[in-house]
Amino acid sequence: MGVSADTVRMGLSDCSLLGLLLSIGVSACWGGCPCSDPALCQPIRDTRDFEVYVFYVGGENWKNYDWAHVTTVALFAPYDPELMCFAHSKGARFVLKGDIPLKDIVAPDSRSAWIEQQVTLAKAQYMDGINLDIEQTVLPGSEEYYALTALVKETTEAFHREIPGSQVTFDVAWSPAWIDLRCYNYTGIADLCDFLFVMSYDEQSQIWTECIAGANAPFNQTIQGYEKFINIGIDPKKLVMGVPWYGYDYSCLHLTEDNQCKIEKKPFRGAECSDAAGRQVPYRTIMKQVNASLSGRLWDDVQKAPFYHYKDEKGDTHQVWYDDPESISLKVTYIKKLGLRGIGMWNGDTLDYSNDPIAQQQTAAMWKALLP
Ligand SMILES: *[C@@H]1O[C@H](CO)[C@@H](O)[C@H](O)[C@H]1NC(C)=O
Ligand SMILES: *[C@@H]1O[C@H](CO)[C@@H](O)[C@H](O)[C@H]1NC(C)=O
Ligand SMILES: *[C@@H]1O[C@H](CO)[C@@H](O)[C@H](O)[C@H]1NC(C)=O
Repeated sequence: MGVSADTVRMGLSDCSLLGLLLSIGVSACWGGCPCSDPALCQPIRDTRDFEVYVFYVGGENWKNYDWAHVTTVALFAPYDPELMCFAHSKGARFVLKGDIPLKDIVAPDSRSAWIEQQVTLAKAQYMDGINLDIEQTVLPGSEEYYALTALVKETTEAFHREIPGSQVTFDVAWSPAWIDLRCYNYTGIADLCDFLFVMSYDEQSQIWTECIAGANAPFNQTIQGYEKFINIGIDPKKLVMGVPWYGYDYSCLHLTEDNQCKIEKKPFRGAECSDAAGRQVPYRTIMKQVNASLSGRLWDDVQKAPFYHYKDEKGDTHQVWYDDPESISLKVTYIKKLGLRGIGMWNGDTLDYSNDPIAQQQTAAMWKALLP
């Protein structure tokens, strides 16, 4: 799928002072819509039944996203007006990333000031909301615990008031069971924003058992995470399933005959071992490596995920765990069963969007696997 540049007007020079103007609190770029059709600068107001939520981390790959299905693009990269115009032309929301050290927003005044800055920035860039990506440690009953819930409430109120139709979402770990010491008021937060993006990946961030490599998003554990969110009283329509478009490459201290890869100890927030012992790899890199690897693609029927082994130049054996259309489709069947709001991935830019025919097939299959 290609994209022409005609959604963007030539000459963005009238906005070149935007940064400066924002910093002094004036949005004089108002009316400087960068799109060829000024209507494309209007916020998106429609909601669609099935959310397909994409994290954009930079580059031009967005031109090849499956725009027939994408509903929201979260900007985890520098602002690109062409992407804004294009997303709007497809009826997709384009939202900011929001992150702030919680100690800085405990005081109500500093919290409102931060929220106002975000709303101003979103308006100046013709955006449709914000994704709160606050993955910090919070202890129950602490000042930060209450400040975080208040932040979500006040951010949602401000965005909904100032940008009609806008969307405020919050990223949570794969389970509400205080993963990585994120002891948040999950039910409160879910009620107070539009929906939670559940990051069903990095599920080995705290390995409490033996230090062996495992799947990034093992099937049972992933589904149990959603069941927990629902059991504590969160409406399934407030949950978007996040799947990984990347894997983990572990160097094995020892690989047993039954494929158990022992990994070095890397403590994380109270656990002795963690996926921090591994290295994150994009799906496109995995696809280039798997066929020529020592083992080829193997399938773990307990974790319901593919993996493979290879040897590096030093002769060390590695085990790589990842997700592919087969493992993702299994999880996707639960979106309907549990009544979730949709799906999304971290992140949209890890696939090979080149002209290579095999890559094109693999990339199309990853997008297709998202749909129930
Ligand atoms: C969570 O937040 C909701 C909404 O603000 C509030 O009613 C509830 O008391 C909070 N629960 C806890 C345990 O803090
Ligand atoms: C790897 O093998 C699979 C299965 O045989 C095949 O479909 C795919 O095209 C191969 N990938 C490459 C890059 O050759
Ligand atoms: C996964 O869950 C199913 C259903 O609860 C159970 O029958 C199965 O034993 C579980 N598998 C693992 C590996 O825990």
